[in-house]
This record gives sequence, C-alpha cells and structure tokens, in this order.
Amino acid sequence: MPSTVKNATLLFMGRAAVRAHALLGDPAARLFGMSPARDPYPEYEAVRRRGVLVKSRMGLYLTSSHELCSSLLRDPGFGTLPAGALSPVDSSAQVDGRRLVNPVEESFLVRNPPDHTRLRRLVAPWFTPRGLRAQQATVERVVEEYLDEVAPRGTFDLVGDFAARVPVQVIADLLGVPGADHAAFARWGSALVNALDGVRDLGELRALHAGLREFQAFLDDLIAHRRRRPGGDDIVSALVAHQDLSREDLIATTELLLVAGFETTVNLIGNSVLAVLGDPAVRARLLDDPGHAEAVVEETLRHDPPVQYTVRVPFESTRVAGTSIPKGTPIMLVLAGANRDPAVFADPHRFDPGRPDVREHLAFSSGIHYCLGAGLARMEGAAALRGLFRRFPDLRAAGRVRRRPSRLIRGAARLPVTTGVTKRHPIAHTIS
Ligand code: HEM
Repeated sequence: MPSTVKNATLLFMGRAAVRAHALLGDPAARLFGMSPARDPYPEYEAVRRRGVLVKSRMGLYLTSSHELCSSLLRDPGFGTLPAGALSPVDSSAQVDGRRLVNPVEESFLVRNPPDHTRLRRLVAPWFTPRGLRAQQATVERVVEEYLDEVAPRGTFDLVGDFAARVPVQVIADLLGVPGADHAAFARWGSALVNALDGVRDLGELRALHAGLREFQAFLDDLIAHRRRRPGGDDIVSALVAHQDLSREDLIATTELLLVAGFETTVNLIGNSVLAVLGDPAVRARLLDDPGHAEAVVEETLRHDPPVQYTVRVPFESTRVAGTSIPKGTPIMLVLAGANRDPAVFADPHRFDPGRPDVREHLAFSSGIHYCLGAGLARMEGAAALRGLFRRFPDLRAAGRVRRRPSRLIRGAARLPVTTGVTKRHPIAHTIS
C-alpha cells in the first residue's frame, strides 16, 4: 500500500477506535480523545480512583500513582517503547538521497542502554552545575533583550513574543546555531512536538515530513560546516569531533536537544505566568521578593507540568501492582497525575509555592532518562519570571489563552498580556 494511503487508513482507524472506546468509558481512550483545551486533571483523578494500575481496552495500562511511576521509571527491567510505536514519521523517506532520521525514536530519549548511556554521556558535560553556571549570564541577557523588545508595545503575546524566544535562543547558542535560523528552529520544533501525540490529518502528516526534511537538510549543512572548521566550543562541534558517531546519531542527538530544550521550557514559562496572573497572593509575594520565582517555577512543575506523561514497557513478562503484565505491554505513566497524588502531596490541587516537599514531583521523570536539561529549564524559568514581573509588575491577561493542540505537552500557544494597569481580563481558555 502506498505510504500516504496507509497513513490515512491508520489515522482514520485510530481516531474511530479512540472515539468508540472513549464512549465506553475506557480511561486511555478518554485521555487520548480529550480536547487539549479541556482541564485534564479530572481524568487523571478518574484513573487514580480506578486503582493503582488500570487496564485499557486499547492494549495498555495506566497509572497516576506517584509510587508506581517512580518505581517503574527506575526499574532496569523496564525500557522505552520499541521503534515505530511513538512517532508518525516515515523513516524510509529520504532527504537528498540520505535517510530521514526519526528525531524521536532514534534519539537517546527513547533508546535503552548501552546506546542510551553512550549517547547521553557525550552531551552531559554542558548540563552539569559547572556547565550551567557558564549559561547563567547568557540566560539573564536573553531575557532582558526580549523584555526590551516587548516593553514599548504595551500589549504582546507572552508565548510567541517572549516565552518561546528565550529557550530557543539559549539552546541555539549552546548548539552553535547562527542567529538568523532561530525562527526556523522554533517552527520545526513545534511541528515535531505537536505530532508526538498523533497527527490529526494527512495534511498535518505531510507538513511534519516537509518540516523534518528542511530541518535535516539544515543540520547536514551545519555538520558539514563544522567538519570544515572544527574546534568550536558548541555542542555540534564537540559531536562532530567524535569520529565514530554515525550521521544518524549526530542528527538525532542535535534534534533531541533542540526540541527537548525549548518546546518544554516555553510551556514552563507560560504555565508559571498563568499561575501568577491567576493568584494575587502569589503575585504579591513575587513582587516583594523576586527570589520567590524559583519556588513558583518548582510548584508550576508539580502542579501543571509541561510534559504530562511518558510510557515504559517491561523487557520480560512480569507482575506490577499484583497484575501480570506480558513482555512489551506499554504502561502509561501519568506524571502530571503522580504530581497530584494525595499520598505524597497534601492538598495536591492547590497551587502552593511554599510546600516543603515540592521537589518530589516527577515533571522531569526519574531514573536513567531523568531530564538532562532540568537545571537549565529551572534557571530559564526563574530568570524569565523574575525579569518579567520586575519589569511589568502590573502584567495582566489581555485576551483569550489559546491552548496548544497537544495532550502530551501542556501549555499555552498564545497568551495575550498587557503591561499597564487595565480592567482585569478573566483568563479564558480555547483551542484553535
Ligand atoms: C520545563 C522544561 C522541561 C521539562 C518539563 C522536561 C521534561 C523531560 C522529561 C519528562 C524527560 C524524560 C521523559 C521520559 O522519562 O520518558 C526529559 C528528558 C530529556 N530532556 Fe527534558 N524537560 C525540560 C527541559 C529540557 C531542557 C531545557 C533540555 C535541554 C536543553 C532538556 C533535555 C532533555 C533530554 C536530552 C532528555 C533525554 C534524557 C535521557 O533520555 O537520558 N529538557 N525531559
């Protein structure tokens, strides 16, 4: 079957099955079928009410239990989903006669040891406390530059004009990508991440492949350029210097850093701002003490995390929470649900930056895939929040929040704000 026809058939069958199972109350189908504009937290609670480990008719299990999520993330008997299960990208496609690399499934985010260990080690030095200290000044400068740019306007889109630009600039600097390419980076990254929980139609699938081809042609050029002029102190230069690293591993690692580096952080900034705009007490405390930004960011990670869930599969048949689980069966670990588990967090639905155990959250996962950029994300989130409210203490919502069209990645795609004291605008949410 030609691949477009095959893809169209699979898309249609997939959607029809989700709808049918959701109508029957299946917990996974309800989650996958839910509009991203809706509040997902009642669904995560519904999973918790059904038990520690819940079976779906769609061939997977789910859990919102903090204890079970933590233990499976750290269990060496569990790994990531096998290739082909996650992304709609057709890896047989070619770019200029070279294979299209699947940026999700070929990166170390979803590889198991020993490949995972080998690839993660190559880039880890940039994300150590020492590496991060070297980034602090860049992050503060980038925040101030973009605030200077929006300040004269009075009204702007907090996401597009600020929150998305800060992390793109920071990760592009780390990778050694020239400034003029940042806008394209942002476009490719968004298309990739939005596709992670499924493309909605054939048009989206074609757009995804087209974006990916452009992205890879760009990276092939960048790599060729670095090979001609070696010795830079950026990540791509360092990867190119590893002679035994394949083109596919080099591209997948660069793409992972780009996509993981900003598509999540933009939502951390957006979700933190939404939390401050919605709670006068949090704003008052932040204005009084800019150092409070770190606590607000941490509580945002717990209360409304940018990455809502992940998946693990057992390498062998095993028992989990008293249930026999056949080898290879996916278990959906609802990180955002675990972050509101009352067994760990008191009054879990309340946004409380003062809670003592906030760092117990699983927003950055756990175990060997624990987010490599957690420190950088925290630094960027706190710097953005501090800078924003120091400069605009009266920042208000100025229109409807448009949600991202994704259930996996939670955040605003558009958040109009105004810097002046104006009539208070209620925070309403929609999706385009
Ligand atoms: C708020 C921002 C962020 C959130 C919520 C986040 C969340 C996550 C999560 C949940 C995972 C693990 C997924 C799993 O276990 O299946 C992960 C992995 C990863 N993240 Fe982040 N991330 C953020 C920012 C960043 C940044 C800024 C970078 C780098 C610049 C980054 C790089 C990575 C990498 C490389 C991995 C793969 C780690 C591995 O597999 O060993 N992330 N992230």
